[in-house]
Amino acid sequence: MTDTPQIARVVVMTGATSGIGAAAVQEIARDPGTLVLVGARGTGRTVPAGVETLPLDLASLGSVREFADAVLRRLGGTPIDALVLNAGTQSRSLDGRTADGFETTFAVNHLAHYLLARLLTPHLADDARIILTTSDTHDPAITPLAPKTLDPQARAHPPTSGFGAGMRAYAASKLCNLLTVRSLAELPEVRERGIRALAYNPGLTGGTNLGDAGPGAKRFMTLVVFPVFRIVGRFKPAYVMGPPERAGQVLAQLAAGTVTPPAGHVYVSLVKGDITYPEPAPLARDDEVRDDLWRQSASMVGLAP
Ligand SMILES: NC(=O)c1ccc[n+]([C@@H]2O[C@H](COP(=O)([O-])OP(=O)(O)OC[C@H]3O[C@@H](n4cnc5c(N)ncnc54)[C@H](OP(=O)(O)O)[C@@H]3O)[C@@H](O)[C@H]2O)c1
Repeated sequence: MTDTPQIARVVVMTGATSGIGAAAVQEIARDPGTLVLVGARGTGRTVPAGVETLPLDLASLGSVREFADAVLRRLGGTPIDALVLNAGTQSRSLDGRTADGFETTFAVNHLAHYLLARLLTPHLADDARIILTTSDTHDPAITPLAPKTLDPQARAHPPTSGFGAGMRAYAASKLCNLLTVRSLAELPEVRERGIRALAYNPGLTGGTNLGDAGPGAKRFMTLVVFPVFRIVGRFKPAYVMGPPERAGQVLAQLAAGTVTPPAGHVYVSLVKGDITYPEPAPLARDDEVRDDLWRQSASMVGLAP
């Protein structure tokens, strides 16, 4: 165990090894009194000096449980001030399956973070924050492929692939993130202890590793898709692409509590670099859909609802 004298704050984070999270963790780690524990897969991932990494592969529920145990062992009873669940993946197909047999995008983006939030919420400090990175792609008003209904079993075990399947799965997983935040915000232990559960949309952000694009697809994005976004962005602000530094800065501010949404708001959306608090899509506000996802997710990860 590493000795860290005078820990003023503890931040536990996923998705800190590239893109938006890498920018965020730079800011979070700047405060010498903050102990940052990052869950990271593989080897060779770089994090700022002083940040500690613990093994975590979100594509395995066993790994999620081991990570939660390792965090608690490392902290030895010190509570967590911010739980930043930022990792995400996006694929072009629905063919990927995790070690547990779930479709990969659903499992990594939603199920693993659902389990981690449930395992670590009892260990949060009073007035702590849980931040789950969602996306405005959950909203059909912004992304035509966003879900209009949600069947968690069909997302966990999709029967077919087909056109836009990867994007549909990604958008649905981000809807699940928003619904999970709404459920977390309703938990008695969260309400009674002043904990804020927030869903953060960093908005369209360039220069990250999101998507499993090879060099050809990357060129296609740069030469075709991004110029189209630039034109569409003149009419639809959600299509204006921002840099990871700004998206990461706001994520760090949410974790630090220097940005706080008005009471009752759980959705924070970065639009053209500005922090906004819009209503999420109608499906994300549906209490029956929310409660059904919570129950079914509990059963999938082997917890009581
Ligand atoms: N970029 C955008 O336009 C945009 C827009 C809205 C929302 N978002 C959301 O923002 C978040 C960050 O995305 P990004 O654009 O910064 O993408 P990114 O550069 O690909 O970063 C994704 C992060 O998630 C981690 N991760 C992925 N799969 C993992 C797994 N199985 N186990 C452990 N860690 C895993 C990655 O770790 P490795 O280093 O090991 O790959 C990396 O740290 C995601 O939740 C994404 O959905 C992004």
